Amino acid sequence: MHTEPSVKVAAIVLAAGRGTRMKSDRAKVLHPVAGRPILFHVLDLLTHLSCEQICVIVGHQAEAVETAMAEARYDVTCILQDPQQGTGHAVLQARRALGDFPGTVLIVSGDTPCLGEGTLRHLVSHHHQAKATFTVLTTTLSQPRGYGRIVRADNGAIVRVVEERDATAAERAVREINAGLYAAQAPFLFEAVTRLGCDNDQKEYYLTDVVRMAAERRLLASVRTAAEEVLGVNSRQDLAEAERILRKRINARWMAEGVTLLDPATTRIDASVTLSRDVVLHPGVTLEGHTRIGERAVLYPCRIKDSAIGPDVLIKDHCVIEDATIEANAVIGPFAHIRPGSRIRKAAKVGNFVEIKKSDLGEGARANHLTYLGDTTVGRDVNIGAGTITCNFDGETKHSTVIEDGVFVGSGVQMVAPVRIGARSTIAAGTTVTEDVPPDTLALARVPQQNKAGWVHKKSPPPTTDPPATDPAQTDPA
Ligand code: UD1
Ligand code: CA
Repeated sequence: MHTEPSVKVAAIVLAAGRGTRMKSDRAKVLHPVAGRPILFHVLDLLTHLSCEQICVIVGHQAEAVETAMAEARYDVTCILQDPQQGTGHAVLQARRALGDFPGTVLIVSGDTPCLGEGTLRHLVSHHHQAKATFTVLTTTLSQPRGYGRIVRADNGAIVRVVEERDATAAERAVREINAGLYAAQAPFLFEAVTRLGCDNDQKEYYLTDVVRMAAERRLLASVRTAAEEVLGVNSRQDLAEAERILRKRINARWMAEGVTLLDPATTRIDASVTLSRDVVLHPGVTLEGHTRIGERAVLYPCRIKDSAIGPDVLIKDHCVIEDATIEANAVIGPFAHIRPGSRIRKAAKVGNFVEIKKSDLGEGARANHLTYLGDTTVGRDVNIGAGTITCNFDGETKHSTVIEDGVFVGSGVQMVAPVRIGARSTIAAGTTVTEDVPPDTLALARVPQQNKAGWVHKKSPPPTTDPPATDPAQTDPA
């Protein structure tokens, strides 16, 4: 379905409510699902729809909500609702901004992150084709708990919406619910919300009463949608359900784009992640933020945030990668921690229990075991031996280490920064490097070994030729 190009659309997003049922110090609409605040999912949709204007009604924690939208660079008009006296009262606040709007005004709850673009377009086009003045979106739920119920007359026409707390037992049994998404013509809408009463259980001005007003004047139309789309997040339970719905949808999209997910149920991909063809995600992969994964990369369970992973990269089990770049054909893990500001260049290898922070590991370089590299530049084809550590922090400031191309660093080396190792040099195992090493040099700094013959610890039991009667580990040496 397409909206007709001639139809101008503006939107009112309701985001001022307290969200009491979340029992949270954070504004409800700012709780993330699929890695993005609930509200942003709604705003993204409206942005795609090319709305003339998007008015967001803010109230509870208005400042936090406004700041979040500004930081994410949404082009919206914030309108304050204070105090918050219900959804109808919220819409009334947009009268000055949209009272004379010549097209269709969409009203969207800021707490419905699973809405699809198709549904929104369908609502607008149906509203237009039916020449309706007010159109309400409905769906049928097997468990309609918490939603406003759609009351229809014997002839099937919608009469009104009744909130659950105001409903009779018979009305509660109705499974068709109000999705909280509407299309309206501005003059009727703003006239209607001025006339709302608050004679209900919550003593609030309910937007849903506009449905009755439109029905009475035969100005009402309705559209049905899929149950998965309309979930309104009111509680933590709903939040988890929204997460499940969105994750499932995101995973399905990437599979359709040629990505293998061995176990979609345990694969979590944020809405802002980009994947390429023939990527393989094993069970337990978490991809967050602005992460990009190149062609044919294979990922075992790991968490990757805001990072660029090149083509043909292999990430073995249990790695954490944050704000880093991993170039083509690199191999990472298992158990590697790549921290912000790191770049692992082509075909480099980072192995078990290696932590890399704000460092550049050159093409073909290897740091395969038990290593810490911080504030370090490592050249091409460098070998970093097991247990190597850059001592980058003197207690006050961080210092950098440079290891030039082709260096061989033996095992158990410490490099006390600032320090530079010249190209093709060798650092002998066990060396503590405190001075720069020129190119083509062997650096060796070990305490010479002393072997003291026949030395026995005073507290050791005297040597015996008989085998111990019991397991020696169980025997008290005293
Ligand atoms: C509302 C509908 C209900 C529908 C459901 C769909 C009303 C009275 N009820 O119920 O029929 O089935 O949505 O999800 O409209 N808000 C404000 N200002 C306020 C009050 C609320 O901006 O004064 C905002 C909230 O932040 C929220 C949205 O409006 O984003 C809906 O409010 P909420 O309290 O969640 O309404 P529901 O009880 O879910
Ligand atoms: Ca709600």
